[in-house]
Amino acid sequence: MNNTICYLNGQYQPLSEARISPLDRGFLYSDGVYEVIPVYSRYPFRMEEHLRRLQKSLDGIRLQNPHSTEEWKKIILRIIAEAPFEDQTLYFQVTRGADIKRDPPFPIGVPQTVFLFTAPLIRPTPQQRENGVGAVTAPDIRWGRCDLKTVALLPNVLARQFSVDAGCVETIMIRDGYLTEGSATNVFVVKNGIILTPPQDHRVLPGITCDVVLELAAKHGAPYEVRAITEAEVRNADELWITSSTKEVLAIATLDGQVVGQGEFAGKPGPVTRQMHAWYCAFRDELMRHGRG
Ligand code: PDD
Repeated sequence: MNNTICYLNGQYQPLSEARISPLDRGFLYSDGVYEVIPVYSRYPFRMEEHLRRLQKSLDGIRLQNPHSTEEWKKIILRIIAEAPFEDQTLYFQVTRGADIKRDPPFPIGVPQTVFLFTAPLIRPTPQQRENGVGAVTAPDIRWGRCDLKTVALLPNVLARQFSVDAGCVETIMIRDGYLTEGSATNVFVVKNGIILTPPQDHRVLPGITCDVVLELAAKHGAPYEVRAITEAEVRNADELWITSSTKEVLAIATLDGQVVGQGEFAGKPGPVTRQMHAWYCAFRDELMRHGRG
């Protein structure tokens, strides 16, 4: 079992010994936010961006940030350093704390609960990389602030299980006829050589990996458009891929059991997807070589 050192409210302790109150508002109301940072060779990738997004999520739920950026970095780097593995998935969460009663309005004078732990980074298998993975679609039943990374993940959990039940890796969600995102990923469509992804509004999480991919497209002069994408465009895509901190850039080979794309690359990662994945790996490895995660 993962019994690394975690951080809970100022204490560094074995994960198996960490305890919180059942009155914690994260537990009672999902009243909290979180972040996940991929760590390569003990370097946290895009840590600053993740900390900025944490601040936006905290602002969005009107919860004060319990730590300065420098304090966060110190805690994050210590948790990473204490772990017995090099490549990690660092998780951290802030909730509105535990009051002495169950009462929805914000409590007064109750400290936030701060929790961090790390686990080995589980990356797509070489076979998944080579062949792509299956995805299914489902209606997006989430709330109106999907731009905030809150711990209220029940719709995401149900969506993810829907894909597991179908033997797939992700569920791609559709709201009012338009693509939003995956249960834990952003989604990209390629049509006629153009890379498309939905705008980062209140319907999707502003993915850190998504931003890296858009930056790479701009840097390498690959045509892309950030715009609303219809369900029909998703179904008629030449290529589809998902991005996230743990999946990086991963090709979708089948959607609802139908092969994605036509011709030579039907049901396989297409040329634009492969190129983007290669750019992503090169960019990440270059940063890591210089210790600038
Ligand atoms: N999920 N959309 C949703 C709904 C997500 O939960 C995530 C990340 C993303 C991709 O964001 P990023 O590129 O910053 O990882 C998009 C994380 C990995 C998780 O919940 O485990």
